[in-house]
Amino acid sequence: MQTPLANKEFDHTNTINALADKFENIRLECLETGIYQICIHRPKILNALNLQCLEELNTCLDLIDSNPDVRVLLVTGAGDKAFVAGADIAYMKQLSAQAAENFSAYGNQTFSRFSQLKVPVIAMVNGYALGGGCELALSCDFIIASDKACFAQPEVNLAILPGFGGSQRLTRRLGLSLAIELVMTGRNIKSDEALKLGLVNHVYPADSLNEAGLELARGLTHKSPYALAAIKQLMHQGENIPLDQALKLESQSFALTFAGNDREVAMQAFLDKSQASFRSLQKTS
Ligand code: CAA
Repeated sequence: MQTPLANKEFDHTNTINALADKFENIRLECLETGIYQICIHRPKILNALNLQCLEELNTCLDLIDSNPDVRVLLVTGAGDKAFVAGADIAYMKQLSAQAAENFSAYGNQTFSRFSQLKVPVIAMVNGYALGGGCELALSCDFIIASDKACFAQPEVNLAILPGFGGSQRLTRRLGLSLAIELVMTGRNIKSDEALKLGLVNHVYPADSLNEAGLELARGLTHKSPYALAAIKQLMHQGENIPLDQALKLESQSFALTFAGNDREVAMQAFLDKSQASFRSLQKTS
């Protein structure tokens, strides 16, 4: 699909609406100013992910990435039963080893794009987040869950292993011994346990999850997009390098925030006891 992404004069919201209509497996919409939502939409099979779904997700991420109006991205699944019940097992059943490697690599590239976006990404887990679904949530900056959510990496039960980052992101999040237990047993983790383990940020009653996600997103739209982008890049990069290097990176990023306009606006607003407001990233330059 060709997308007219380079032209900054485009009405991005209309472009998104026009292109989003063409997706079969994803719903992409602007919920309110600055807040966009990707919804994985294959409810009959609990939003399981096949190759086409990942391709559409990539196109969505192109649209999000090139749209200066996006301040926060929400990710969720259609229906009230599942966020995503994993990679599509019927699709995977016919894959050769080589095709499976390609599918895993493509899934990993796609999910890594969530941490490369400049804006915060919030996973709203409304039900089963299994296998690729748990991995999708782990790729987001925040995970909020309903009290009916259920997380697992059950690939071992299919005699395979996590292929969209679970074996690595779960370890980084929970530590090796717990992650290895979860990947080897494939056991279910309900919301209350997920909260205790630090797998999710917050748990809400199922009927207030969407509003809680929106409220979190609204709060983030009032922060400096410049600071949020710098925080996101620094913290993701810092996670994978030695502490002394990460601290150097922190000082450099700290300096970068001082070079931008937003900190002047924010510090003056503090001194004036007023409310600062910030423009979108591309519009500040
Ligand atoms: N792939 C394909 N279809 C799936 C699916 C999946 N991951 N998960 C559910 N479905 C389909 C079911 O086959 C069923 O389809 P039919 O109505 O045509 O029979 C439909 O969704 C509803 O599912 P169930 O009838 O099974 O619903 P349930 O309430 O009894 O159980 C469930 C729900 C516990 C989530 C169960 O469906 C299940 O265990 N799903 C598979 C979960 C799984 O193993 N995920 C990991 C996949 S491997 C992976 O993700 C690899 C990777 O890292 C990339």
